[in-house]
Amino acid sequence: MKRDFTKLLDITTEEGQFLLDRAGVLKGKRREGVEYKPLKDKSLAMIFEKASTRTRVSFEVAIRELGGYAINMHSSETQIGRGEPIKDTARVLSRYVDGIMIRTYAQETVEEMAKWATIPVINGLTDLYHPCQVLSDVFTIQEIKGNLKDLKIAYIGDGNNMANSWIEAAILFGLNLSIATPEGYEPERGILKKAEGLKGFSLTHDPYGAAKGADVVNTDVWVSMGQEEERLKREKAFVPFAIDERLLEVAKEDVIVLHCLPAHRNQEISDTVFERHQETIFTQAENRLHVQKAILEWLIKGV
Ligand code: CP
Ligand code: NVA
Repeated sequence: MKRDFTKLLDITTEEGQFLLDRAGVLKGKRREGVEYKPLKDKSLAMIFEKASTRTRVSFEVAIRELGGYAINMHSSETQIGRGEPIKDTARVLSRYVDGIMIRTYAQETVEEMAKWATIPVINGLTDLYHPCQVLSDVFTIQEIKGNLKDLKIAYIGDGNNMANSWIEAAILFGLNLSIATPEGYEPERGILKKAEGLKGFSLTHDPYGAAKGADVVNTDVWVSMGQEEERLKREKAFVPFAIDERLLEVAKEDVIVLHCLPAHRNQEISDTVFERHQETIFTQAENRLHVQKAILEWLIKGV
């Protein structure tokens, strides 16, 4: 049976651990210049309804390096943009290509695509989730810190698609996760419900409480794609949630700072903090490539 990756909780803990391990192996092969093409001549349709730099390029390079190729489709240039139903697009693409990656607004669109496609469907970001990014971020933390279990991971900022996926990652991998958001900007209610009673999980409106003793401090933009009209209101509400030197003083001395990018200097992260932690942040961006290779290999080749 074909599998999809529409959210982190589509996979089991064992599968998640397998993907992290596999990403490490694939990263090693690339470093050593070992050619590995398990997806020879396989194709991936990439549908974008929102902008992208990392997701677009890392998926395209990933499938090419595995021996396949990507077809990049901006929805406005396709019949989706003129109202062709997702269920028809899903069935047409299933006759042509071996996998679909889609970045869109509603999570339901990805789920509809997955329901009707007979090939794997990957969520490249929706308003609700960003599973490829967060799986990759978990990989980055494991790579740098050597483990996942004994860490305090803080997510400070908007209760958006990143925060929602972090909650699912905490459930999947048993992480200690503290989220701090302004009031009214909490993660999605249904996802919070899944985390009820989860050991090591907390939600607060106090950024210092979340950052205290943290091994990892993670943030994201205050205004996600599609929320541009709320910019002024959001930029005001989020000021106390900026990641700056003062906030990091309460974290562990060897704290690492993550940002999925793009970053807005001196908004969600100060320029000084960003530049001090740039090596980690750009390794985090690089790791999208390795983790997505693992996802593509698993879904399309079926290892
Ligand atoms: N982090 C991330 O998904 O970046 P893009 O929007 O550039 O794809
Ligand atoms: N939360 C951000 C993530 C961008 C990669 C957005 O949805 O725009």
